[in-house]
Amino acid sequence: MKALLDAPGMQSPISAVIAMTLIAAAAVVVVTPARADGDPSAGKTAFANQCSNCHTTTAGKNGFGPSLAAVFGRRSGGLSDYKYSDAMANAGLTWDAATLDEFLTSSTTKVPGTLMAVTITDAVARANVIAYLGTLGVARATIARTATTPLPHGPTATELLNAASDRDNWLYASKDYSGQRYVSSTQITTANAARLRPVCIYRSDNIAATQTSPLIYKGTMYFTINEVTVAMDAATCRQRWSHTWALKDGALSKVNRGAALKDGRLIRGTPDGYLIALNMQDGSLLWSQKIADSNAGQYLSMPPLIFEDRIIYGPAGADWGSKNWIGAFSLETGEPLWRFNLVPDPSEPGAETWSDPRALQHGGASLWTPLSLDTSNGVLYVPVGNPAPPRPRSPDFFTSSVTAVGAIEYAFCNPSRYPPCAM
Ligand code: HEC
Repeated sequence: MKALLDAPGMQSPISAVIAMTLIAAAAVVVVTPARADGDPSAGKTAFANQCSNCHTTTAGKNGFGPSLAAVFGRRSGGLSDYKYSDAMANAGLTWDAATLDEFLTSSTTKVPGTLMAVTITDAVARANVIAYLGTLGVARATIARTATTPLPHGPTATELLNAASDRDNWLYASKDYSGQRYVSSTQITTANAARLRPVCIYRSDNIAATQTSPLIYKGTMYFTINEVTVAMDAATCRQRWSHTWALKDGALSKVNRGAALKDGRLIRGTPDGYLIALNMQDGSLLWSQKIADSNAGQYLSMPPLIFEDRIIYGPAGADWGSKNWIGAFSLETGEPLWRFNLVPDPSEPGAETWSDPRALQHGGASLWTPLSLDTSNGVLYVPVGNPAPPRPRSPDFFTSSVTAVGAIEYAFCNPSRYPPCAM
């Protein structure tokens, strides 16, 4: 099972990109060795002249560029309250004397596509600025960037595996990995169902329809309403915390279908394309990762699935002509791990099922309903939405189907047989 989620059938383009970046970085190191022996007071003057127009040295205060307080030890693109370029957000560096030296020698070689175009050609001047940056503190942790409250315990891997028979908690959008959406409960019967009445009501500030699947763990209910996430006492409807994601980018649709929980973290997608992790204790943001783009017709809506240390997730947006995929992300950091194209690239298996090759560029294949995972046989069932533009009984891989991602095998099911869809 682990192997399945570690290595999808299709070659991940992400690993190729990382490999290329490493080669580029290694070449730079040979030419320009890092100098950590600069003069901080000379560096302070250089910083005032060349950097302070765009960068403050005050934590939490960004200018045109991100704050450089405690930049040492920080992951590149790591401030959750600053909107980086995609290039910087995905650069995967940790800032230290060596990486800063390379970045300031040639920012666009080190991080191709970065918006930071300033360089310092003189090695001594560069070392001075880096020495000054070193006096601005060291990031406390490279992963839990803004977390102040310790993460609470659970739901654990065992609790998630046993979710189907759990009568106290509702741990996944469709109840459990196999998606039963049902638990045998004896309290409500045909004899007393007519006497059910509301005990408490939570009124949100949002007039939009709520399409979320609420989750319950240890008496707290967690749910999403558009870009807002709420934790409330499930017995009294009293709010424990709420978190509002401030949209940074365009959003095609704000409708959200729910969150996922594991090991003290709540994971969800945002309308503007970020996968985010909140501390279940107080709703504080742990990390955010830009994974989808409204300019490409995408938004995030489905409830994620978390298995062991990884999140399985993908975008919706077929109605706006997106080309969608399903992928895995690290639960701890949000780093992308692998991706499987639900509309194949022209060179991938399934591309031949598309009668019009141009449609492959915007073929749809949205994810917006919960996934199912057969943990004993290691098969992930992916309910894939319609092609764009929609057409009934689509033959186009993998639209309007249940796709099984496991090793290199996948299955295509005829929509007329769905559900249930045989392998
Ligand atoms: C004209 C504005 C501007 C100037 C001047 C500038 N920067 Fe930047 N810097 C930026 C922007 C914008 C970013 C974010 C880049 C991105 O998202 O691609 C950035 C990012 C950075 C980062 C990455 C920080 C992080 O959180 O990952 C470092 C380090 C940095 N700059 C150092 C410097 C230093 C040192 C100087 C002075 C020699 C400098 N910058 C001058 C605009 C500027």
